[in-house]
Amino acid sequence: MSKKITIAIDGFSSTGKSSIAKLIAKKYNYIYVDTGAMYRAVTLFAKQHFFVGKDFLDKEKLISNLKDISLSFQFNKQLGFAEMFLNGKNVEKEIRTLEISQLVSKVAAISEVRKKLVAEQQKMGEKSGVVMDGRDIGTVVFPNAELKLFLTASADKRATRRYKELIDRGDKVSFKDILFNVEERDRIDSTREDSPLIKAKDAVEINNSDMGIKEQFERICSLIDRKLQEN
Ligand code: DC
Repeated sequence: MSKKITIAIDGFSSTGKSSIAKLIAKKYNYIYVDTGAMYRAVTLFAKQHFFVGKDFLDKEKLISNLKDISLSFQFNKQLGFAEMFLNGKNVEKEIRTLEISQLVSKVAAISEVRKKLVAEQQKMGEKSGVVMDGRDIGTVVFPNAELKLFLTASADKRATRRYKELIDRGDKVSFKDILFNVEERDRIDSTREDSPLIKAKDAVEINNSDMGIKEQFERICSLIDRKLQEN
């Protein structure tokens, strides 16, 4: 099979975008890019240097130091996916905490941050054969992607999945905080001025509230196979 396409997966937080994207990338031998990890890594950098107290972000300082942030993905054979590196350091675990989830939407709303990351994402996906997940992939990063998916699920289902994930890795979190974070992030991500989270007109919406990963995977693979047969 020689034809390769670009697959854009957008949707609300904790809809299982990355789990499905990893399976697709493995099956079709595509590159997988988790763009949320990039926004999380910039947020970690901001937290280390430009947050005053818990809530106040010195935006101007972050913007003028963006050039000092170097992001890269390195494939971990054992895990079977690429991990996020910030200035040469593996930050995969640090960027997944609730604390970073609580700060990330504020950082992701800054246009200068988005400009830098979108340019990097477009470069990574230049040669098609890429599955990229995020909030603006089908609308801004790759508006011409051959296949666009938009994942949704009820806030309760999403918070339950996220809660389980964090508890399983040993984090001490409450379900109430997770649910609040999921809803709050969606609100900020969907109402920001620059590249808000919206469904692209030509995206296929999948509500996976009551759908297992296997069923979603099969449905998406049939959409991909159809695209690969076109032309
Ligand atoms: O996919 P995630 O939950 O790891 O993403 C973390 C945050 O990053 C999310 O709340 C919004 C932001 N984000 C974004 O604004 N644009 C993207 N393409 C990906 C993520």
